[in-house]
Amino acid sequence: MRILSIESSCDETSAAVLEDQNGEIKVLSNVTATSLSIHATTGGIIPENAARMQVKYIMPVIIEALTTSIRHSGEKRSDDARIDSGQARMTGENWEQAHAILETSIDAIAVTYGPGLIGSLLVGVETAKTLSYVFNKPLIPVNHLLAHIYANFIKTSRSEIRHYKIASTPGVRDQKSEILNSPFPFIGLIVSGGHTDLLHFEQSEKYTWLGGTRDDAAGEALDKIGRLLSLPYPAGPEIERRANLVLEPTIKFKSPIINEDNFDFSFSGLKTEALRFVQKNENMADDLVNQVCFGVQKAMFDVLVKKTLKAAEEYNVKNILIGGGVSANQTFIDQLKLNASRLTLNPHVFSPEKTYCTDNAAMIGVYALMNYKTIDWQKMKADPELYFA
Ligand code: KG4
Ligand code: ZN
Repeated sequence: MRILSIESSCDETSAAVLEDQNGEIKVLSNVTATSLSIHATTGGIIPENAARMQVKYIMPVIIEALTTSIRHSGEKRSDDARIDSGQARMTGENWEQAHAILETSIDAIAVTYGPGLIGSLLVGVETAKTLSYVFNKPLIPVNHLLAHIYANFIKTSRSEIRHYKIASTPGVRDQKSEILNSPFPFIGLIVSGGHTDLLHFEQSEKYTWLGGTRDDAAGEALDKIGRLLSLPYPAGPEIERRANLVLEPTIKFKSPIINEDNFDFSFSGLKTEALRFVQKNENMADDLVNQVCFGVQKAMFDVLVKKTLKAAEEYNVKNILIGGGVSANQTFIDQLKLNASRLTLNPHVFSPEKTYCTDNAAMIGVYALMNYKTIDWQKMKADPELYFA
C-alpha cells in the first residue's frame, strides 16, 4: 500500500509518499515548502499570505514528492526536503513523470482537513479531492492534531515503536534496546503553535480528551514572548538555544495553574509576566534575554511535565507520546524523561524525530495508513474548527 499525503493547515505546504510493507511504514519522500521567511518579516503568520504561497507551491511540492519517492523507494533512508523559495518548478517534463507515478503506483490520497486556517486548508483539501477524482484514488481525511502524535510511528513498524537513547541525561537509564509490542494504551501530549492538548488513547480510535490550554497554546506563547524580546519568528528554537547558554539561572517565572487538580494549561499569564519584566528592564543585554528565555521555558515545561505525568499515573499508563512543534525542544524531552524515570510507574517517553515534530505531510500519511478510512470526495470538507470527536 502506497499513499500520497498532503498537509497545508497553517504556513507549510507539504507532500509525502509513504509505503506500508507488511506493517513496516516507510517514508519514501517528504517535501515541505516553508514560507517562514515571509512570516519572519511580519513577525507572525498573516493567513492570506500563507494561503497565497500555498496556492503557488502545492503542485510543485506534490510533483517533487512523487518523483523523489521513486528515486528513493529502494533505499532505507527517507528523503526529507525543505524548499525555501522557488526551488520546485513545475515543468511539463516532471509533471508527466509525477502523473505516471500517481496513476500507477499510488493507492490512496490522504489530506489534512482540519483544524487550521481556512484558506490554507482549502488549498490542500481541494487539491486532494481533485486528484482523487481525476485519478480515481480513495481519499482519506486526517485530523492534523492526531497526526502530530502519530508522527512517533514514522519509520517504525505498526506494532512496535522504538525507544530513543537518552544516555546524555544523568540518572536516566538507556531505553534504546527496549522494544514495546504495542504502544496502546498511552498518554498523548500535543504541544504545537496552535494547540496544547492532553489525551488518553486506549486504542487507535478510542481516545479521551483530558484537558488543554484555556488560552494561548505553548508554541503560541513562546512566539509571542519571542516578539517581546525581539527574537526571530518562530521563537521556540531561539528560546531553546538561548536558554541553553544559561549556567546559573537568576529569573523565575510562575508556572501557571501548576497546582490545580486538573489537566488544564494556561500560558497567557506567563506572557504577561514576561511583558512586565521587559517593560521594567529596557535595553536588555544579551545575557538578560537569555535568562528570560530560561525562566520562561522552565515555567512552561514544569507545568507540562507535571500534568502529563499526573495523567500517566492516574490512568496507570506506561507510555507517553508527545508531538507538535514544541516537542522538538530537547530540554523539554529530557526533563519529561528524567521526571518520568523518578516515578514508581516509570513510564516511557517518546517524541518524533525532529523533522517530524513541526508540520509535515509524512505524519498525515502515517496516520492514514494506520487508520485507513476513506470518504467520498463530495463529502470531504475543510474544517478549520475541527477538534477531537
Ligand atoms: O506543530 P507546529 O509546526 O505547527 C502547528 O501545528 O502549530 O508548531 C510550531 C510551533 C511554533 O510555535 C514554534 O515556535 C514551536 O513550534 N517550536 C519550538 C521549537 N521548534 C518549534 N518550540 C520550542 N522549542 C523548539 N525547539
Ligand atoms: Zn501542527
